[in-house]
Amino acid sequence: KKVVLAYSGGLDTSIILKWLQTEYGCEVITFTADLGQGEELEPARAKAELLGIKPENIHIEDVREEFVRDYVFPMFRANAVYEGQYLLGTSIARPLIAKRLVELAQQHGADAVAHGATGKGNDQVRFELSAYALDPSIKVIAPWRIWDLTSRTKLIEFAEANQIPIAKDKRGEAPFSVDANLLHTSSEGKALENPAEQAPDYVYQRTVNPEDAPDQPEYIEVTFEKGDAVAINGQAMSPATLLAALNDYGGRHGIGRLDFVENRFVGMKSRGIYETPGGTILLEAHRGIEQITLDSGSGHLKDSLMPRYAELIYNGFWFSPEREMLQALIDKSQEYVSGTVRLKLYKGLVTCVGRWSDMSLYSEAHVTFEEDAGAYDQKDAAGFIKLNALRLKLIGNRNARVK
Ligand code: ARG
Ligand code: SIN
Repeated sequence: KKVVLAYSGGLDTSIILKWLQTEYGCEVITFTADLGQGEELEPARAKAELLGIKPENIHIEDVREEFVRDYVFPMFRANAVYEGQYLLGTSIARPLIAKRLVELAQQHGADAVAHGATGKGNDQVRFELSAYALDPSIKVIAPWRIWDLTSRTKLIEFAEANQIPIAKDKRGEAPFSVDANLLHTSSEGKALENPAEQAPDYVYQRTVNPEDAPDQPEYIEVTFEKGDAVAINGQAMSPATLLAALNDYGGRHGIGRLDFVENRFVGMKSRGIYETPGGTILLEAHRGIEQITLDSGSGHLKDSLMPRYAELIYNGFWFSPEREMLQALIDKSQEYVSGTVRLKLYKGLVTCVGRWSDMSLYSEAHVTFEEDAGAYDQKDAAGFIKLNALRLKLIGNRNARVK
C-alpha cells in the first residue's frame, strides 16, 4: 500500500509519517509545498530521508506562482472576505495542496493521501472535499481522527520511541498553531483560546506593531489588468513576486492584522490572529480600481454574491460546480477592470487615495457641481423621482387608511 502525505517536515507530520509506516504498513510518499511560508524546505527532505523515505518518493515543490496566479488572484477578483473580515489565507491554499496530493498519488499508483489536519477543524474538510472532487476513488487517511496519540506527552513518547528528532521548543506544549503562506499567517489555539484576552504581541510574525510603524506615510501605485495586479510603481511583476512585494510594504507599515472569532464549518467558533499584509493592500487596491471601472449593475451583483463565494472557499468547495459558476461570473465582470491606483500606507492602514484608467466610467462632466455644459439635465431627475415614489405614496396612502 502506498500513501501520499502532505508533509511539512515538522514534528507532527513526521510522527504521522512514522505512524503510517508502522501502524498501516504503508510505503509513504511525501509532498512538501513551498507556498511562500518563508521556511527552508531542504530540511524537510533530509528529515524524510532520515525517516526512511526513498529519495524518489520525496517531492518538494515551489508552487508559489501557481498558488497566487490560479488561486489567490481569482479569489481577489471577487474581493472575497469571510464573515466580513477574514481574507481566507489558509482556506485558499488547501485545494492546491490537495490537487498535488491527488496528482502524485496517481503518478505513484498510490490509492490514498494523508494529511495532518485535526478532526475539529476546517482544513480536514477542505483537503478531503478537494481530493474527492478530483479523484472520487481516492482514500484519505486523517491520523488525528484515528490514532490514540491524544496528548502532547503521548506524541513525544511516540517520537522518542521512533527516533524522530524533536526540536527543543517542541517538547513542551506549543503556544499556538501556525499556518503560513504567501497570503497570510494564521495563529490559533492554546494561548489564544480565550477570546476575551488580548493576544500577546509575540503572536505577530510578519507585521510590525502599527504603533511602531514609520511616522511618515509611504505611497505606492498598483496597476491592474482585467482584475489582476500586474505592476507596482510601474514595474511589471509575476503574481507571486508582486504579492511578496506587497507583503514587504504591508509588513513594514503594520498593515493587515486581524483578531477574529469565526464560525468553523464543523459548527464551533474559533478565535484566530491573522496577518495578511499584502492581501489587505491588494483588496483595497482592487476595490479602488473597481470603483471607476465597474458599473453599478455588475458591481452590486458581484458584491451580493461575494459572501456566498467566500463561504464556498471557506467551507472547502473550491472544486465545486457552484464555485466555478460564480468564478465565471466574477471573471466576466473583470473584463474592463484595468488601470492604476495610488495607495497611502500609514500605521496599520492602507487607503486608496487615487485611481485612473483608460476604461474609466467616471464622468466628471456628469458629476461636477460646476456648469456641466448640457451633459446632464437636472429636470430629468424630477420624473425619475416621481415614478420611484409612486409605490411609496400608494403604500403611504394605504397605511393612513388602515391605521
Ligand atoms: N481558521 C482559519 C481557516 O479555517 C485558519 C486555519 C489555520 N490552520 C492551521 N493549521 N493552523 O481558514
Ligand atoms: C486543524 O484543526 O487542523 C486546524 C484548524 C482548522 O482546520 O480549522
